[in-house]
Amino acid sequence: MCGIVGYIGTQVAVPILIEGLSRLEYRGYDSAGLATVSQGDLHLVRAPGKLVNLREKLASLDSTARVGIAHTRWATHGKPEERNAHPHIDGHTRVAVVQNGIVENHRVLREHLEAAGCTFTSDTDTEVIPHLIAQHLAQSTLPRYMALLEAVRQTVNQLQGAFAIAVVAADYPDEIIVARQQAPLVVGFGQGEVFCASDTTALLSHTQAFLSLENGEMARLTPLGAEVYSFAGERLTRYPRTLDWSPALVEKQGFRHFMLKEIYEQPGVVRACLESHLIQEPTDGSPLCLGTVTELYPTIERIQIVACGTSWHAGLVGRHLLEQVAGIPTTVHYASEFRYSPPPLQPGTLTIGVTQSGETADTLAALEMEVHRCQVAWPGRPLAFLGITNRLESSLGRLLPHLIHTQAGIEIGVAATKTFAAQLVAFYLLAFDLAFQRGKLDRNALQDILNHLQQVPSQIEWILETQAEAIEHLAHEFRDVHNVVYLGRGINFPIALEGALKLKEISYIHAEGYPAGEMKHGPIALLDPQVPVVTLALPGSVFEKVLSNAQEAKARDARLIGVGPADDPHVHEVFHTLLPVPTLPELLSPLVAVVPLQLLAYYIAAHRGLDVDQPRNLAKSVTVE
Ligand code: G6P
Repeated sequence: MCGIVGYIGTQVAVPILIEGLSRLEYRGYDSAGLATVSQGDLHLVRAPGKLVNLREKLASLDSTARVGIAHTRWATHGKPEERNAHPHIDGHTRVAVVQNGIVENHRVLREHLEAAGCTFTSDTDTEVIPHLIAQHLAQSTLPRYMALLEAVRQTVNQLQGAFAIAVVAADYPDEIIVARQQAPLVVGFGQGEVFCASDTTALLSHTQAFLSLENGEMARLTPLGAEVYSFAGERLTRYPRTLDWSPALVEKQGFRHFMLKEIYEQPGVVRACLESHLIQEPTDGSPLCLGTVTELYPTIERIQIVACGTSWHAGLVGRHLLEQVAGIPTTVHYASEFRYSPPPLQPGTLTIGVTQSGETADTLAALEMEVHRCQVAWPGRPLAFLGITNRLESSLGRLLPHLIHTQAGIEIGVAATKTFAAQLVAFYLLAFDLAFQRGKLDRNALQDILNHLQQVPSQIEWILETQAEAIEHLAHEFRDVHNVVYLGRGINFPIALEGALKLKEISYIHAEGYPAGEMKHGPIALLDPQVPVVTLALPGSVFEKVLSNAQEAKARDARLIGVGPADDPHVHEVFHTLLPVPTLPELLSPLVAVVPLQLLAYYIAAHRGLDVDQPRNLAKSVTVE
């Protein structure tokens, strides 16, 4: 939610800030702006809408400034208009601030500031910050090199909420002050230059050396480095680490959209996830290697999963596997609900947090709350928490000691695709390993299912190579529909939800995912010849049931699209159009069944001429509650 970036060094700042913003647009794109400091003044440029509007405004600007901060916004407080765009400034245009987050006590602070004579020009919560900093600076008697840092420190201690900020000031051209409280912020190090950003992806073309600030930490950035302090003012010793990510990861590499590229990366992603967790020459133990995660196994009596969005759908598939294969009672919670109505604590519960970004505010807050509840209830007892994430360096990665890294590489498209596939693989490996260790799956059965799992990458490749064109044609036919119903049962019910979510997110077409057997209890009333019904009909325990449910829809003249096996004549009879997928054990079918649904959503949105990678109102990483 909102992206911030800052630069101080020997190069001209504006192009670096703009490039950084373009990498962060996935975090929000309602407006953008930047502030630079040069010749004793602050220069501010802001524009509503996407970054392209800011670029146009900047075309006539001849800035040689070597320090600046910038922001791309996902509106929370105040409409996406220019006056609400960041950076925000104090009344004398001496201090500029960008923020990612929400200042929850902004109303009270604003009242005090207005009473003291400050005039506000926006509706945002952020604007209180530059006014407060300016107030502290006006009263400061500290030496010059400490004054701005101390003014920001006093200010952050007055703020409540979750925020990450970057600050520049006209009278302090040699520094940027940054602070973090529950919203991500990294500092990047170059030669004679220092950067800051909401995410490492913004800076990959400049540096691979990063320091992630922790909650309650702030830093003074100068061209020579970063001094880190706590909000209490204590100097801290922190060391950067080096990532080994290629800048090419954040390029489209010839694909029209990142989402399409990421769909096509799925075979490689599944292969990589399997390779890193399968032991090539297993001895007597499990052929799976999940590192320290196995330390959690002995005490597990039940599992609760917390997640949001697509990660929640992966959690639903995980529940099916953990219950049906490993025999462990499992519940799945929306993190935003769990935070305020958690179930009663029960000993023997493993809590799994699933978040590809590792930064989703609701998921982090739910996990932090649960960690706290466990520590209060059972002081000294080891915590049974597991994180499944694509970003080890994220807040989740630092919060939880046991992690499964999904290794999908950076995902830029707002609609999650390859990270979903990788989350599913994580749940397969976890459930199979647990089932094996608990005697629910013998070695032969485990080896058999793992052999099938290793076929999945080539089966996804087959879909991508042979079916994409037909799906694109179908998408063209459906580009103007208003409603689509997705049906699935058993392990493929979450895939119906995920197919519907993909379509909603990027094409703005109303879509609902339902358990196929539930359709007759409501959604069947929606059906008519204009409503396509996409049904997941994969061979296995509920195959015939699903086909019967599809027949019920057909009897109401709905247009039936099936995702199922090409070699089953019955399937061809039932569906008007079949999106064929290779046959494999029912348990593994979600991994292939989701692919045609991703392509269908992608091509419908592309045919509608929509901005697939940056759909309206959404953000990839939702770092506010
Ligand atoms: C946002 C994104 C979704 C994503 C969800 C959870 O809503 O638009 O694509 O599934 O956040 O993200 P996470 O990083 O926690 O998996």
